[in-house]
Amino acid sequence: MYKQFYGFERNPFDISPDPYFLFRTPQHNEALASIYHGVTQHKGFVVVTGEVGTGKTLLLRCLLESLRKSEIAFANIFNPGLTPLEFLEYLVSDLGLKAVNLNKSSLLLQLNGYLIGRYRAGLTTVLVVDEAQHLAPEVLEEIRLLTNLETTHQKLLQIVLAGQPELEQKLDSANLRQLKQRIAFRCRLEPLEEEQTRGYILQRLERAGASSQKTDIFPDATMQAVHRFAKGTPRLINTICENSLIAAYSQRLQSVPPKIVEEIATDLHLVDLHLNEVAKPASSREAEGVESSSVARSLLQLLESLDQIARARQSSLRRVPE
Ligand SMILES: Nc1ncnc2c1ncn2[C@@H]1O[C@H](COP(=O)(O)OP(=O)(O)O)[C@@H](O)[C@H]1O
Ligand SMILES: [Mg+2]
Repeated sequence: MYKQFYGFERNPFDISPDPYFLFRTPQHNEALASIYHGVTQHKGFVVVTGEVGTGKTLLLRCLLESLRKSEIAFANIFNPGLTPLEFLEYLVSDLGLKAVNLNKSSLLLQLNGYLIGRYRAGLTTVLVVDEAQHLAPEVLEEIRLLTNLETTHQKLLQIVLAGQPELEQKLDSANLRQLKQRIAFRCRLEPLEEEQTRGYILQRLERAGASSQKTDIFPDATMQAVHRFAKGTPRLINTICENSLIAAYSQRLQSVPPKIVEEIATDLHLVDLHLNEVAKPASSREAEGVESSSVARSLLQLLESLDQIARARQSSLRRVPE
């Protein structure tokens, strides 16, 4: 419907993290390069954090694409509610091994044998965990033990953990200090700057197939409004833009006016902090700021859960034997 009206070949603001749409900022380039370097140079342990919706899962997908191209084996775990034993089972099966026995010591032995075989053949193996802030402390401890699998020269299993900022706090806890000391590289994804939000929106419109009039669809003032409400968080930018496009289409407007963005943002309970700064005294501004950011966070977390359910479904479909 609206795709045709605006001349798109695909939905520009789809919520699923698709590497085709990656908008590269210097922080993305640096993060991707450093993670890839950490993994291929067998540095052992890498951590990526960022608030909900800042692009961690997308970054991991881009990493997995590069790993696939380099024929590096990996296990990708994004179901954080696993027990330590389930975690090991999942790891072993995602690496393509058929578990011979489902007890912990034989799983570890099997994993060790596999990793040593790959190491001897000069091959790299990676464990990538998304949503790692939800991992139970016992599973984090299991991951720490996996970092002990090493030869005298290097780690056998490279580990990439991504998660919300709480992950940092978890790693700070006393019993995980040892794990923390092994982090070779860490980075934190920050929301986009205003100029980057513009670039982000325009690139998505272009990659979705919009013809040259993409700046007409989202004029400058509209992109400014999107940035104010989304505060540079890519997932919120997508949600606001997608809903604004639908609303504009329903009125057959070729161009989305800032007013539509404001209405959508109000429906989503997002507060324009710029206006608050002008209109409210500091004390109430602070209170509302906290409130609005917690509403935005809940909304993002809800979107996150929906994403996870969709991904878990995809994964279980993938696992059905043929
Ligand atoms: N740099 C980026 N370029 C393009 N799209 C992005 C970027 N960062 C985030 N997104 C998009 O924002 C949404 C949320 O990203 P996601 O990776 O799921 O965030 P997180 O895992 O941090 O919660 C997805 O639709 C994703 O494609
Ligand atoms: Mg994610």
